[in-house]
Amino acid sequence: MSRILFIALAAVVFVGAVIGGKSFFADSPKAFSPSGKVNIGGPFSLVDHTGKAVTEQDYAGKYMLIYFGYTFCPDVCPTSLSIMGDALDMLTPAQLEKVVPIFVTVDPERDTPEIMAGYVPNFHQKLVGLTGALKDIKAAAKRYKVFFAKANEDDPDGLYTMDHGSTTYLMDPNATYAAHFSHGTPAKFMAAKLAEFL
Ligand code: NI
Repeated sequence: MSRILFIALAAVVFVGAVIGGKSFFADSPKAFSPSGKVNIGGPFSLVDHTGKAVTEQDYAGKYMLIYFGYTFCPDVCPTSLSIMGDALDMLTPAQLEKVVPIFVTVDPERDTPEIMAGYVPNFHQKLVGLTGALKDIKAAAKRYKVFFAKANEDDPDGLYTMDHGSTTYLMDPNATYAAHFSHGTPAKFMAAKLAEFL
């Protein structure tokens, strides 16, 4: 291996580590534009848990705390959303006012607005559930560099699961990347980080 190639590879690994570790980097092979700007987020067109069509414009002026998952998730999503809910509870009312926590399903086949409406209040009263057409979910996930795929499709009872990325993103009031939290980030840490922005 040439010295130049080695240095280039080391730089890639380092950048991956800086932005949040191996899993994040694996989720996000194109997280950086050539200029080094974090290239995450963008427009979306989905349906909220009340059945209303929404876009990122509906949350303009607020920080979006956004996580992708699905309501049938046995473990990872409930853990992530509980941490999110706990962190939000640690904010002051004034800080909380500036945040819209959002849970985007990667399983719109099962996660109808009605299912989402029954699920999101388990974690926080402010949590917004977003679903929509699969193509629109795919477009949103792609913009947020969140991988997802159906798994266990041969389950005899049809109880498939979804593999999905588990990074939580904080987007600023212009809907551009502000920060992210790897799966398992303690609620206290998340709350402290949020408070730096709010
Ligand atoms: Ni999950």
